[in-house]
Amino acid sequence: MTFMPWTRELELGVAEIDRQHQWLVQLTNQLHDELSRPEPRREAIGDVLEGLVDYTHNHFIVEEVLFQQHDYPETPAHKAEHDGFTSKAMELLMRFEMGEEITFEALDFLKEWLVLHICKVDRAYLPFFQAKGLA
Ligand SMILES: [Fe+2]
Ligand SMILES: [Fe+2]
Repeated sequence: MTFMPWTRELELGVAEIDRQHQWLVQLTNQLHDELSRPEPRREAIGDVLEGLVDYTHNHFIVEEVLFQQHDYPETPAHKAEHDGFTSKAMELLMRFEMGEEITFEALDFLKEWLVLHICKVDRAYLPFFQAKGLA
């Protein structure tokens, strides 16, 4: 069973954003698969985790640039959500680099946060994007 399936609720109907979200889901699944191996490979886990942190950060910037370009009124609150996640993910990566293991609890946190953020916080910009002809 796929750890984090791609579902209709995650699909916003904005091609570029959906593609990026899909990649985030795929990286989360990769991280799960690495952690689930009988003998988890620390280097591979580090690579995927680093990729996930990097890609998430880049994705947030893409959204925030669109918000700025179109004066999205919810920008500060949305950006605060992004920043909160970025610091948690960075902390996770730093602790991993200091020798700690990535736990399944941490993985669940990443998944839950992404699902909630995409389904609620990202979805909330859809009517605005539609009004601006972006979606
Ligand atoms: Fe997003
Ligand atoms: Fe977002």
